[in-house]
Amino acid sequence: MTDSKPVGVALLGYGTVGEAVYRLLAENRHHFVQRIGGDIEVRGVAVNDASKPRDGVPAELLTDDAVGLVERDDVDIVVEVIGGIDYPREIVLKALQAGKSVVTANKALVAAHSAELAAAADEAGVDLYYEAAVAAAIPVLGPLRRSLAGDQVKSVMGIVNGTTNFILDAMESTGASYDEMLAEAMRLGYAEADPTADVEGHDAASKAAILASLAFHTRVSYDDVYCEGISHITAEDIEAAKTAGYVIKLLAICERIVDAEGVEKVSARVHPTLVPKDHPLASVKKSFNAIFVDAEAAGQLMFYGNGAGGNPTASAVLGDLVGAARNKVHGGRAPGESTYANLPLADFGEVPTRYHLDMEVNDRVGVLADVAQQFAQRGISLLTVRQEGSDNGARLVVVTHAAREADLADTAESLKSLDAVKSVNNVIRLEG
Ligand code: NDP
Ligand code: HSE
Repeated sequence: MTDSKPVGVALLGYGTVGEAVYRLLAENRHHFVQRIGGDIEVRGVAVNDASKPRDGVPAELLTDDAVGLVERDDVDIVVEVIGGIDYPREIVLKALQAGKSVVTANKALVAAHSAELAAAADEAGVDLYYEAAVAAAIPVLGPLRRSLAGDQVKSVMGIVNGTTNFILDAMESTGASYDEMLAEAMRLGYAEADPTADVEGHDAASKAAILASLAFHTRVSYDDVYCEGISHITAEDIEAAKTAGYVIKLLAICERIVDAEGVEKVSARVHPTLVPKDHPLASVKKSFNAIFVDAEAAGQLMFYGNGAGGNPTASAVLGDLVGAARNKVHGGRAPGESTYANLPLADFGEVPTRYHLDMEVNDRVGVLADVAQQFAQRGISLLTVRQEGSDNGARLVVVTHAAREADLADTAESLKSLDAVKSVNNVIRLEG
């Protein structure tokens, strides 16, 4: 833009995030004008039900025609905070193809269609920003894209879903029930419109795909991420973890691994994980997120902050909006996608993990040897074995060293059919 027309913004969605974006933009507009070096104006706000009044939004700005709004000539930047995949994909593509920059908080969309969206942005020479899509307020995509562009990232690991951390933390610290805390996370605006995405790990898997793509310069999609949620975690699991000196966290783990043939690969996975009580991730409470990045030259970096909610997410959306608006006013583009490394993706079965297994066994001579043999015959080495009496016989808690996930899973299955083993009560992976 070479003239002094205000940068026109289309805001798509006025829910938890959209409301906060609109309000903070209105409250701080004078700052944004200075930071952008030009004026900025919201041209319209698209919602599902445009007849419903929205506090602070003039009725003439409201529309249920998102496509029509995006196509207007006076719209330069589209902010998509509707959610979902198919409908926003259609609108975002339309916007990019029409030469409008896009800012989105929609991780499901980016993780499913990043190749197509990035290509459309490149083709049109516009910006596609999505800092809010991972860990809301925490600036982690910018550092991966820019600050660490001169380094080799080895791993990115952390808590990237506020809803599940909120639930697990409350169950651990107050004994609150799973259902009660899920309802509270929904009331506070942390959860997705369909909270299954949170509790089954899909939201974290989308974020893992985005983090792995940027960290390893390799296209990683949602479907490439192994994903297990927390809906099967019981109060008893949490109590057992506590007794053993751990907390349970839903972790996203993205790493470069070298397979048995010496081939470097990318692994991305999400699953409930035992973390020792003195590990920094164990102290991440409520809906906070924390992400560790390990890079060859930089060493370990930790990013911590608000991972969900209206204002924290709006902070990241507005940061992207200011960046895109600056580029509209002064020219230039944000760094685009870099997928040059194109590393192969590892099967989950070949990834090294560690297991914590808790089982009821018969209290008789030779049980320990029978159990240990199952591990030994698959080449899995044991870190600790603890046996204690229980009402039912004996309780055996085994912690392994790192081994191939497939071998560990196979061992856990085989233990269930051993005569000596009455039940395998808890099998959970362990980090740290
Ligand atoms: P909400 O469900 O609170 O809001 C969705 C908004 O989209 C509503 O205003 C709704 O309209 C509008 N909408 C729905 N369908 C259409 C349509 N067809 N056309 C136009 N508008 C439509 O979602 P959130 O604000 O929580 O989340 C939005 C996005 O931000 C999601 O992608 C989410 O993953 C992401 N995000 C959310 C975070 C959070 O903490 N909530 C954090 C980080 C990212 P109406 O009001 O009429 O129903
Ligand atoms: N539902 C998501 C969460 C919102 O709970 O983390 C932030 O992306």
